[in-house]
Amino acid sequence: MKAKACAVCHGIDGLGKRPDMPNLAGQNELYMAEQLRRYRSGRRAHPEMNVVSEGLSDQDIDDLARYYAAIKITVELPK
Ligand code: HEC
Repeated sequence: MKAKACAVCHGIDGLGKRPDMPNLAGQNELYMAEQLRRYRSGRRAHPEMNVVSEGLSDQDIDDLARYYAAIKITVELPK
């Protein structure tokens, strides 16, 4: 599993490490897999994610999306 390569930006816990890096924890699995395929093909353009996704196989993408989707989060609505 390749989540170590993502952790520097998205955290091993799926929480973004900089304000411009999205949280992935608990994100919808199908959505994430689709976005990773878009970055890989260049249909979704972003300098960092286009490079990162270049080396991912379909299996890697499905595994990574499943991993981040499986992180349990709780939500609290703003008061
Ligand atoms: C160098 C930092 C960096 C690394 C490493 C990185 N990402 Fe990202 N990732 C980003 C940034 C920044 C964005 C927001 C890009 C955009 O605006 O489209 C992003 C966006 C995403 C998104 C889309 C989120 C959404 O809400 O649409 C997914 C999914 C994702 N990354 C997964 C991964 C996975 C899986 C890995 C490891 C294989 C990874 N990223 C590695 C910085 C990184």
